[in-house]
Amino acid sequence: MAANPTIPKHIAIVMDGNGRWASKRFLPRIAGHRQGLEALRRVVAACAERGIGMLTVFAFSSENWKRPTEEVSGLMSLLAFALTKEMPSLQKEGVKLRIAGATEHLSLRVQESLAQAELATAGNQRLLLNICFNYGGRWDIVQAANRLALTGQPITEESLAAQLSLSQGMDPDLIIRTGGEMRLSNFLLWQAAYSELYFSDILWPDFDAASLDEALLAFASRERRFGMTTDQLQAAPNCVAG
Ligand code: FPP
Repeated sequence: MAANPTIPKHIAIVMDGNGRWASKRFLPRIAGHRQGLEALRRVVAACAERGIGMLTVFAFSSENWKRPTEEVSGLMSLLAFALTKEMPSLQKEGVKLRIAGATEHLSLRVQESLAQAELATAGNQRLLLNICFNYGGRWDIVQAANRLALTGQPITEESLAAQLSLSQGMDPDLIIRTGGEMRLSNFLLWQAAYSELYFSDILWPDFDAASLDEALLAFASRERRFGMTTDQLQAAPNCVAG
């Protein structure tokens, strides 16, 4: 059966608004991140149910080190905690986990949890969940260029893309950002070239399956031309199928 072109194969999400969600309730910011983890669990399950094969989320950016020390260490602990606590549910949902980012700068405890979680879920095939942690789009392009230079291969779009940290996957069809801001904030700069962008005012901890469905509806209404004209697309609709 042909894949349904109105359902994205790969969704990426900037999970923004945790801090504001917490502030509104007079709670510490980390409480918003904890609630953000609940939202992530809901969205992972919803993506798997809808046959979306890949989900990439921005959990900690290269720039997030500038936040208060307490929030940074809270996010590190939350990641390590999530990787252990969420394991049964990831296994049940058939989720394969992969971490993208400069993980060598994380504590040994967090690095070990990441490695264990990747290993434990390596055989799962229903949904690939990429967690971008200590990740930045510019960092990724620079590290890819350095790795490519070491190989001595000619520089082409294909050879550079092959060295990016998410090289095993396809580019996101749809990038969602919650929390009302309309920017990419250094997320997937290379891979976003032809992604459809969807911005929602919903704060990430409140995002749920119905919010995802709204984003999917908006995606289904977009015409993805990849530089071509509408007439060309209508004449040969399969030539842009990703
Ligand atoms: C941005 O909201 C969110 C983050 C920097 C962290 C995202 C983390 C989670 C959703 C936790 C779950 C994920 C894992 C894997 C640990 P913000 O704090 O910038 O919100 P604000 O704009 O309202 O201040």
